[in-house]
Amino acid sequence: MPRSPSVAAVLTMLCSRSIGRYRFHVAEGPVLPRSTARRFEWVEISLDGKVAVVTGAGPNIGSGIALALARYGAKVACNDIDPAAAQATVARVERNGGTAIAIPGDVTDEKVVTGYLDEVVETWGQIDIVVNNAALLGGKGILDESIEFFTDAVRVAALGNFLNTKHAGRHMAERGIRGSIVAISSSNGWSGSAGVIAYAFHKGGVNNFVRAAAMDLAPYGIRVNSFTPTAPTPDNPELIAERGPGGVLDNVRARGIGGTTGDEEWRRPARWAGSRPPFVPMGTTGTPTDIGHCVAWLCSDYARLITGCDLVVDGGARAKNFAYLPAPAGDLAGPAPVIPLERTGELDRQAW
Ligand SMILES: NC(=O)c1ccc[n+]([C@@H]2O[C@H](COP(=O)([O-])OP(=O)(O)OC[C@H]3O[C@@H](n4cnc5c(N)ncnc54)[C@H](O)[C@@H]3O)[C@@H](O)[C@H]2O)c1
Repeated sequence: MPRSPSVAAVLTMLCSRSIGRYRFHVAEGPVLPRSTARRFEWVEISLDGKVAVVTGAGPNIGSGIALALARYGAKVACNDIDPAAAQATVARVERNGGTAIAIPGDVTDEKVVTGYLDEVVETWGQIDIVVNNAALLGGKGILDESIEFFTDAVRVAALGNFLNTKHAGRHMAERGIRGSIVAISSSNGWSGSAGVIAYAFHKGGVNNFVRAAAMDLAPYGIRVNSFTPTAPTPDNPELIAERGPGGVLDNVRARGIGGTTGDEEWRRPARWAGSRPPFVPMGTTGTPTDIGHCVAWLCSDYARLITGCDLVVDGGARAKNFAYLPAPAGDLAGPAPVIPLERTGELDRQAW
């Protein structure tokens, strides 16, 4: 079993420079005298010994999070309603030296949820981390959405978060496990986009679910946080092979995520259809690898007092004032180089 990677605490991450692959040190700093250097101890973060459950561990963000948790040392149980998707993520984790099992099933079915959580406990003895990632993306705007899709999308978000947090939370509370539960939100949970009314509704719900669950579980030392990715560029080699490179930002749809909204005379465009300026201050919203690193840190004991919060990885997109347009990508320095999680060498690609 290869050694799990390590990172330093989030402040360190924010102002750090990578030295080697996974070791971080605040600033470059002066060269230390030999005696000082020998005494210096790196701050390392590891999820070694922890057991994680990731729901909706399909090929994009869920797979990236599962891979990250495994690379930081956790054993990872990969859920998805599509058994093949769960199995593909297990294979990706194993290919990269980690330990994983597939726990396929529908996150909205209580018997199924308790069944796969029990299976994880039977296999590895405990659950320390849950990432509620399963969701139905897409949909339509308020004028066109169907009751069927709206209900399904809200159901997956609501019951997926509720049932997994409830039963994993009970497991942790009963055994004195000071675990970490993360709900994957979206920029659409914090501000409005045209064309995704169901998604906006349930992601907004996720954000306050997290705060309330954090209050319920704080007495047990269990933390509940949301995590907000924003249109990351896929970096799973299998997904790129299947769909080609690029993400949502490279394939902007004029009429809104989810497809057309009709072409009747009275329709007005939901979105700007021309070429677009870069809306992201750092020039990129990153990849599932960027998300994975930060979720792993949030699930580590270094984040022991972070609960009821949201961690956002979006290159500054949410912080931006509506009236300000960042400079063109070519004029920006861009972020520091990405620290890859794929060890296969298939893809050490960065979005920037
Ligand atoms: N892709 C983006 O641009 C983006 C941006 C912000 C937030 N997010 C959020 O990140 C998370 C992952 O998004 P993604 O882009 O990887 O989407 P995705 O559609 O690739 O993955 C979601 C997975 O959830 C699974 N799923 C759906 N219903 C389920 C159910 N009832 N039970 C179990 N599994 C179920 C799907 O099969 C799928 O594999 C979601 O919560 C999404 O809302 C995505």
